[in-house]
Amino acid sequence: MIEAKQLNLWYGDFHAVKDINITIEKNKVTAFIGPSGCGKSTFLRAINRMHEVIEGAKVGGQITVEGEDIYRPDKDPVTVRHKIGMVFQKPNPFPTMSIYDNVAAGLRLNGMRNKKKLDEVVEKCLEQAGLFEEVKDRLNKNAMGLSGGQQQRLCIARTLAVEPHVILMDEPTSALDPISTQKVEELVTELKKKYTIIMVTHNMQQAARVSDYTAFFLLGELVEFDETEAIFTNPKDKRTEDYISGRFG
Ligand SMILES: Nc1ncnc2c1ncn2[C@@H]1O[C@H](COP(=O)(O)OP(=O)(O)O)[C@@H](O)[C@H]1O
Ligand SMILES: [Mg+2]
Repeated sequence: MIEAKQLNLWYGDFHAVKDINITIEKNKVTAFIGPSGCGKSTFLRAINRMHEVIEGAKVGGQITVEGEDIYRPDKDPVTVRHKIGMVFQKPNPFPTMSIYDNVAAGLRLNGMRNKKKLDEVVEKCLEQAGLFEEVKDRLNKNAMGLSGGQQQRLCIARTLAVEPHVILMDEPTSALDPISTQKVEELVTELKKKYTIIMVTHNMQQAARVSDYTAFFLLGELVEFDETEAIFTNPKDKRTEDYISGRFG
């Protein structure tokens, strides 16, 4: 589904991500783990062409998604970002908008004006994000009135509305309480039936619970990538073993 070949990413002269080669499977959850600053978010942002918006940022090598080079000169980054949605650490609903408008925003931007169709999509996406029952009576209320966990599920619903094929999640539960975290984890497991998901997490138990594959990064390099079970029970690299057993990071 996603393939990086000899991927290198820089901030100015700083070489943040080095020679990454990886193939991400369709309809699976892949976890990115590793100590803070090892390049997880940088790599994730490169997958939906958000690295390049940072001044001085450079990209080398190749990323293909569904066989297409997303950095091909004629590719429009905005179109790439529709296909490859992103959910951030801190829930970031559009603060001046209602719950309904948050979910509808992307579609409206794409020119959709049909109210009935919008209603359908908003309901379906809130449903898929496990939020509809909780908010159905206040769809026109401001999104900031929701709890943090609800806001994060709203952001997931907003991402789903533009029908991405891939969902990138950068520590999506690290700002959430345990119950909201559990809801998002259950949701991820449900969503992988339809979407390919990459999730950065600092929480090793979370990686073990929800992911099928795990990639361990250190100092900008991909140290080890395997089935999650193998990474956590039988890591091949000493550095992976040290990290998952809590010896550093
Ligand atoms: N906008 C930026 N400008 C310069 N350096 C950055 C920027 N963002 C991240 N970095 C650096 O790139 C490295 C990788 O960061 P990041 O991808 O955020 O790591 P992680 O997500 O694994 O914690 C770090 O050394 C970080 O300081
Ligand atoms: Mg990060």
